Amino acid sequence: MCGIIGYIGKSEAAPILLEGLRRLEYRGYDSAGLAILNGELSLRKCKGRIANLADLIAREPVCGSIGISHTRWATHGGVTDENAHPHFDQSGKLAIVHNGVIENYQTLKDQLIAKGHFFKSQTDTEVLAHLIGIHYDALPGEASRQRLVEAVRGALKEVIGTYGIAVMHQAVPGTLVGARRGSPLVLGIGKGENFLASDVSAIVGHTREAVYLRDYDIVALDGVDFEISTVNGGTSGFEVSTVEFSEDDVSKGDYPHYMLKEIFEQPDSMANAFRGRLSTEESTAKLGGLNMTPKELRDIERIVLTGCGTACHAAMVGEYLLEHLAHIPTEVEFASEFRYRNMPMNKDTLVFAISQSGETADTLAALRESQRKGHRTLAICNNVASTIARESDGGVYMHAGPEIGVAATKSFTSQVGVLTLLGLLLGRIHHLSTSEGIQIMEELNAIPDKVRTILKQSDYIKSIAEKYSYAKAMMFLGRQFSYPVAMEGALKMKEISYIHAEGHPSAELKHGVIALISPEVPSVFIAPDDSVFDKNVSNIEEVKARKGPVIAIGTEGSTKLEKVADDVIYIPPCPDFLSPLLSVIPLQLLSYHLAVKLGCDVDKPRNLAKSVTVE
Ligand code: F6R
Repeated sequence: MCGIIGYIGKSEAAPILLEGLRRLEYRGYDSAGLAILNGELSLRKCKGRIANLADLIAREPVCGSIGISHTRWATHGGVTDENAHPHFDQSGKLAIVHNGVIENYQTLKDQLIAKGHFFKSQTDTEVLAHLIGIHYDALPGEASRQRLVEAVRGALKEVIGTYGIAVMHQAVPGTLVGARRGSPLVLGIGKGENFLASDVSAIVGHTREAVYLRDYDIVALDGVDFEISTVNGGTSGFEVSTVEFSEDDVSKGDYPHYMLKEIFEQPDSMANAFRGRLSTEESTAKLGGLNMTPKELRDIERIVLTGCGTACHAAMVGEYLLEHLAHIPTEVEFASEFRYRNMPMNKDTLVFAISQSGETADTLAALRESQRKGHRTLAICNNVASTIARESDGGVYMHAGPEIGVAATKSFTSQVGVLTLLGLLLGRIHHLSTSEGIQIMEELNAIPDKVRTILKQSDYIKSIAEKYSYAKAMMFLGRQFSYPVAMEGALKMKEISYIHAEGHPSAELKHGVIALISPEVPSVFIAPDDSVFDKNVSNIEEVKARKGPVIAIGTEGSTKLEKVADDVIYIPPCPDFLSPLLSVIPLQLLSYHLAVKLGCDVDKPRNLAKSVTVE
C-alpha cells in the first residue's frame, strides 16, 4: 500500500522514478509525486494516476540525479494535490515520501502547531517531515550524512506507527536516507547508482542485487555506497540477495491486463508449486521448509489457518482439504480477527499465516500474536523476501512469480495447491495408504493440463459475461469444497466489476438469501460432479422456480445441468477435493470479461491497492 522509489546516481532521476512508480502503481493510485534535488528541491505532485504526474513533468520538466517519489493509497487526508507526497519540513529544505501510518500524528501535530509550525496537508507524513526537520536543525555541526541519519533516528523514536520512508535534504545533496518499520523497503545496489523502493519490481530493470531491509533499519546511501544501522543506533547485519525474477516477469507482455496474464499463467504457477515436492518413492509430499520432524508432524492436534481476502478463501478450501485428507481438526480465522481474539489453542496447535505478498499488516500481526503465545507459526507466502516469510518458523513458498494485478488470481490456486500438498503429507503419516498417495499425486500432476483446457474456453466465458453484464447483483453458490470457491468468485466479481455479489453455501439460499433472487439477479452455481451434485441441482431448481437466471460450473459429461441452468461452463473431471483448483478459473475469467465489458479498470479497481500494509 503506497509505493515509494528513490534514486541516487548519475542518470536523470525523473524518468527512472516515473518508470519505477508505474511498476508500483498496483500499491495505490490516488495521487503521485516526486522531488528532485539539484541544488534546490523541485517538487511535482498531483492527484490521480502516474500518467497525470508524467503529463505534469512533461509540461514542467525537472532535472537532477537524486530524487524520491511516491504513489499514494490515501489513509490520512483526502485525495488532493496537497496530500500527495513528497512532503516538506517547515524549512522547505527536507523532503520525505512515506508508506505506513503515524498513529500519534495528531498529538505531534498539535505540539508543532503550538510551536508555530504550518502544515499544507492533512497527512500524517507531513508531521514526520517537520519532526525530522526539527531534529536536523537542532543537531550541532556541519551538514553531513551522519547529521541527517541522526535527525531521522531522533524523529522515528518519537513516532508510533508504521513507516517505510525515503528522505533527502537540500544541505546534504549526496545522500538519501531510508528507514522501515512495518512497511517494506528494499535497497537496490546498482553500478554507480543505488535505489530505495517498496518492492524490487520497481528497480529490477536496473539491478537484481538487493538488500531487504528489516524493521528498525536505517540506511544511508549515495551513488556508490551504503551504510545500514538501526533506529536505536546499533549496527544491523544485512544480506545481499539476487532477485529471482526479471523485468519481463513484471511486464504485461502481450496481454491487455496483468489480471488476464496472471489467470493464464496458472498452469505454470501451479506446476511450480508442485515441482520437486512430490516423491513417487514415498508416495507423499515433501515440504522441507516446514522445519518439522516426522514426530512433530504426527503430534499436530489442530491446525489454524489465517489470512485475509483471497488468502482467507484459500484457507477455507484448506480447512476442507486438511480435514478430508489428514483428518486433523482445522479452523480458519480472518487474520484481522485472530490478532485480537485470543483464541483458546492448545500447545500442539499449528498455525499457518497465508499471504501472497507476505506484507499484509493483519496477517503479520496474527503471525506475531500466535508466536507470542508460543505456537509454531508457519507461512505460505509468494514473496520470498517478505516480512511474514522471514518472521515465520518455517513454511512453504508458492513460487507463483510476481502477482501485480490487484485482484488475486494465481496466488489463490497456488495457495490451495500448497495446502493440498500439506494435506497429502499429513494424510500419509496418519491413514492414507501408499496407493492412495500415488493416486492423489497423479491427480495433482494432471491439474495444470486440465487448467489449460479451461483457459481455452475464455472466449466462450466472455460471451456469457457479456450476456449477463446487465446484472446489478449476482449470487455465487456452492457446497462443500465449492463453497469457498463461491466466496472467491463473489469477491472477484465485486472488486473488479463493482457488481454487488454474494457468496453463500447453496443450501443457505432458503434460509434468507433466496429473497434476493429475481430475473435481474443471476446466480452462479459451482456444481461439479461431486458428492453433493444432486443437492446442488435441487438448489438450482429453487432459483429457477423464482425466475432467477443460472450460470452453472459443471463437470464435462454432466448433462443434467444443461436441463436446469441457462448457461453451463464445463471443467474436466477430478476428485472432489481438487475441484477448487479448476472451478475457480471460469469464475476469474467471468469477472475479468464482465469488468472489461463494463469498462472498469481491471488492474486498478477503485479504492483498492495490493499488499495491504495498514491495519
Ligand atoms: C483479492 C485480494 C485481496 C488479498 C488480501 C491478502 O483479490 O487481492 O483480498 O488476497 O489483501 O493479500 P496477501 O495474500 O498479500 O496477504
